[in-house]
Amino acid sequence: MEPSWCFVQEEVSVAHITSFAAGEAQEAEFNTQGPGSCKFVRCDMSKEEEIKRLITVTVELYGYIDCLVNNAGWHPPHKSTDETTAEEFRNLLNLNLISYFLASKFALPYLRQRQGNIINISSLVGTIGQKDAAPYVATKGAIISMTKAMAVDESGHHVRVNCISPGNVMTPLWEELAAQTVNATATIRTGENAQLMGRMGTEAECGVAAVFLAADATFCTGIDLILSGGAELNYGFKSQIPS
Ligand SMILES: NC(=O)c1ccc[n+]([C@@H]2O[C@H](COP(=O)([O-])OP(=O)(O)OC[C@H]3O[C@@H](n4cnc5c(N)ncnc54)[C@H](O)[C@@H]3O)[C@@H](O)[C@H]2O)c1
Repeated sequence: MEPSWCFVQEEVSVAHITSFAAGEAQEAEFNTQGPGSCKFVRCDMSKEEEIKRLITVTVELYGYIDCLVNNAGWHPPHKSTDETTAEEFRNLLNLNLISYFLASKFALPYLRQRQGNIINISSLVGTIGQKDAAPYVATKGAIISMTKAMAVDESGHHVRVNCISPGNVMTPLWEELAAQTVNATATIRTGENAQLMGRMGTEAECGVAAVFLAADATFCTGIDLILSGGAELNYGFKSQIPS
């Protein structure tokens, strides 16, 4: 059977209108290239009703769901705990964590019919921590825990639930964060050197890992696939104590 894909992008502000155009262009490109077919659906993943609609539209279009990939998320600019408000933390929880829970909740009745699977995109920092990013790190750590809890719950339905924890991957988000620093080029170079491999990961490498979990990893459930180029290994300059 040929694969079909539904993917989403947010609909929240004028600033993201270009994202819609990019989504529509991506849909056209995938449909031209094949194999299978692809549908871009506008959806603000921070809104429960829109997530519900996304799942309904997908099932109306394709008749079933084999795999849900929860990926939408945001890393706010680095900020200390002292400077972070409760509202900022709650909004990030809503986007980065609750959206994954709700999309899973609405997709599960269909995934159970097909013995399908869920892939949650977490982050390496959910396990190793990160400076001035307590809310983000908390949302990503919670995704790993939720993945394990859902893997337990859904095993009786033969639905696998796994997550991927990327380290540094060059994406528009990484570029956006680097651009906020004094020297973006130097920041990117430092980001590259954080890996044993001396480079960042690519979006294509994340895609390959997701396809592996979705299609081939039939004895894996509740796992956290770390995709980090070895960033968590070896000693580094880690002390935060002022000299
Ligand atoms: N790039 C990295 O180094 C890295 C590392 C670890 C984890 N991650 C995680 O990978 C995932 C993708 O990140 P990325 O680096 O590709 O970021 P990105 O900003 O390039 O892409 C994020 C995507 O999420 C979408 N999105 C954001 N808010 C949304 C909303 N309310 N509704 C619908 N869509 C929304 C954006 O439109 C965008 O397509 C995130 O969950 C991120 O936390 C990224």
